[in-house]
Amino acid sequence: MIRFSENHSLKAHNTFGIDAKAKYYFEFTDLEDLEVFLKSNKSWKEEKLIVLGEGSNILFMNDFDGLVIHPNVPGMNSVWEDRNHEWIEVGAGEVWDEFVEFAVNQSLGGAENLSLIPGKVGAAPVQNIGAYGQEVCRLIEKVKGFDLEKGCAAEFSATECGFAYRNSVFKNYLKNRFIITSVIFRLDKFPEFNLGYGQLEEKVKEKGETNLQSIREAVIEIRSSKLPDVKELGNAGSFFKNPVVDNEIVEQLKEKYKDLPVYSGGEGKSKLAAGWLIEQAGWKGKRIGDAGVHEKQALVLVNYGKATGKDIYALSEEICKSVSEKFRVSLEREVNCI
Ligand code: EPU
Repeated sequence: MIRFSENHSLKAHNTFGIDAKAKYYFEFTDLEDLEVFLKSNKSWKEEKLIVLGEGSNILFMNDFDGLVIHPNVPGMNSVWEDRNHEWIEVGAGEVWDEFVEFAVNQSLGGAENLSLIPGKVGAAPVQNIGAYGQEVCRLIEKVKGFDLEKGCAAEFSATECGFAYRNSVFKNYLKNRFIITSVIFRLDKFPEFNLGYGQLEEKVKEKGETNLQSIREAVIEIRSSKLPDVKELGNAGSFFKNPVVDNEIVEQLKEKYKDLPVYSGGEGKSKLAAGWLIEQAGWKGKRIGDAGVHEKQALVLVNYGKATGKDIYALSEEICKSVSEKFRVSLEREVNCI
């Protein structure tokens, strides 16, 4: 199935609910349809292009003067298994949380801590989604798709994906050049539970037995209590990354701020909680027009209704400026601003 249109509204295609328009919009469910479409008209190569999943990590600041491609490939199929693992190939167009639910229902472990993360499966490897001590890169065996520059299908092993904290090759040199059509996940038949993060263990214990289902339920409860539902309030989850800084800087900050949350950030580095920094800088719950900082999680910027992409971006600039003035730490946006 394909869909093509011109001057297409993207309001329903981004979770901030920004009413930007795309000059061209193309949606496909089959890799072959994409190939036919791209070959049908050479001039696509000259157009600006973005690949859009559910639009849960994007902020449109203007109309998009180019081609938006929406891969809507369906399917969740077991492709291989051994004594300990089962490999499931999932189409880029499947909703991420429906895949997590499927895995948990099949008693396959690995994805449960990533319950309720918004977005489509095709977007998961791009920014290496993560939550509650788990990152999707640990489950990925292979990413399949189409290389626009080479004009052919291609596959990447997990190592070739260059995964890092909220990062991968798909966000860098392959950005808008490689269209992910499916992902093969390696799930555990005998999972080890990962409850070390924040209040997770406590929440799971409240449920009685510790199993994939109770972990999923606990994660859903924690997320829903802190993060706004995109159906009610436009947002794109964490707007900023948690900044990774030199340990020396952390030591200096700790002298002044005794309760500074610090996580390990690799050799000689630490990861700080951007939400904490933003709250301490006085932004939590603040609102400028219809653009605001969520009242329960300062890392999330929200659209109260009529904010434009530019309004939200301007708010994010103010926040960066004030966090930098107060803590001398620069915040980097996690959301893709276009
Ligand atoms: N904090 C505050 N004020 C706030 C928010 C957080 O003081 O307004 C403090 C918390 O008390 C805690 C620390 O900051 O001490 C960390 O907060 P939390 O555990 O809520 O997680 P986070 O660092 O804010 C990250 C991810 C989330 C993910 C959670 C849970 C990033 C950028 N964000 O948030 O991911 O769900 O951990 O694992 O890494 C997303 O990417 O869209 C997202 C929601």
